Amino acid sequence: MADKGLAGRVALVTGGLRGIGLACARRMLADGAEVVIGDLDDPAAAAPILGGLGPAASYIQLDVTEEDAWQAALGFVTGRHGQLHILVNNAGTDLTGTVESIAMADWRRIMAVNVDGVFLGTRTFTPLMAASGGAVAGGASIVNVSSIMGLVGMSEVSAYNASKGAVRMFTKGIAMEFAAKKMPIRANSLHPGFVETPLLHAGFERWVASGAAPSVEHLIEGMNAATPIGRLAHPNEIAGPVAFLAGPDSSYMTGAELVIDGGWTAQ
Ligand SMILES: NC(=O)c1ccc[n+]([C@@H]2O[C@H](COP(=O)([O-])OP(=O)(O)OC[C@H]3O[C@@H](n4cnc5c(N)ncnc54)[C@H](O)[C@@H]3O)[C@@H](O)[C@H]2O)c1
Repeated sequence: MADKGLAGRVALVTGGLRGIGLACARRMLADGAEVVIGDLDDPAAAAPILGGLGPAASYIQLDVTEEDAWQAALGFVTGRHGQLHILVNNAGTDLTGTVESIAMADWRRIMAVNVDGVFLGTRTFTPLMAASGGAVAGGASIVNVSSIMGLVGMSEVSAYNASKGAVRMFTKGIAMEFAAKKMPIRANSLHPGFVETPLLHAGFERWVASGAAPSVEHLIEGMNAATPIGRLAHPNEIAGPVAFLAGPDSSYMTGAELVIDGGWTAQ
């Protein structure tokens, strides 16, 4: 049983209905936080998942690419909690294909979700987090979910590489800004390797459909073989490090990159 290391804190997790975001929400609830989930689904569609999370969880429909939706999320969090200590900018999407094949609209879409979303979330919630952070040990914490694809390149992944590299450097920029202004907010980027989520499976299925691989099982075997630890990550193995970055045990970390990749980038 995890301890209650996040008791008294309020967290917002974008893209929190599935995959890594849902695992983060569950972990922070177990650690005693109150958690607001933001995702694309309408509230009725989200209700079955929310129902399983208990009364400390709540939901706001939030498309991270939309400025107005972020303002509505700010109103919701302010009205319900009056404070925010943890922002996990997790919502993301992927795009694969050769650079010649990438349509401008698809490039803009991945940048909108993966980069604009992180920027808008940070911009919208910085004042509330600055006002809230002084009351908790280690201050408020922004965790921006990048990827190992924000650290190293991969063939036919250039648009995703670019978006996740932008998240990495944006995080360092805001970390310096908060520190320079003595604001009680830390900001760090998170760099997962290959994690078993709906996003990863959808990507595998597209690769198979394009003829690039014979089957999803074949792709998973290849990923396992390319990963020193020999397997994909479970979302809970990403959620633990997110809870660490969110809470007081990481009080001296800001502008840092936390890599959770089974050794993939150490090779
Ligand atoms: N799965 C992996 O292997 C992996 C590895 C490294 C990094 N990541 C990153 O982790 C994050 C979560 O990925 P995941 O694998 O859990 O994905 P997922 O597709 O399983 O879940 C992502 C969630 O984000 C939501 N979402 C998508 N677009 C959104 C938008 N515009 N506004 C609000 N919510 C939106 C989706 O509805 C979904 O619930 C992403 O940023 C992804 O790039 C994933």
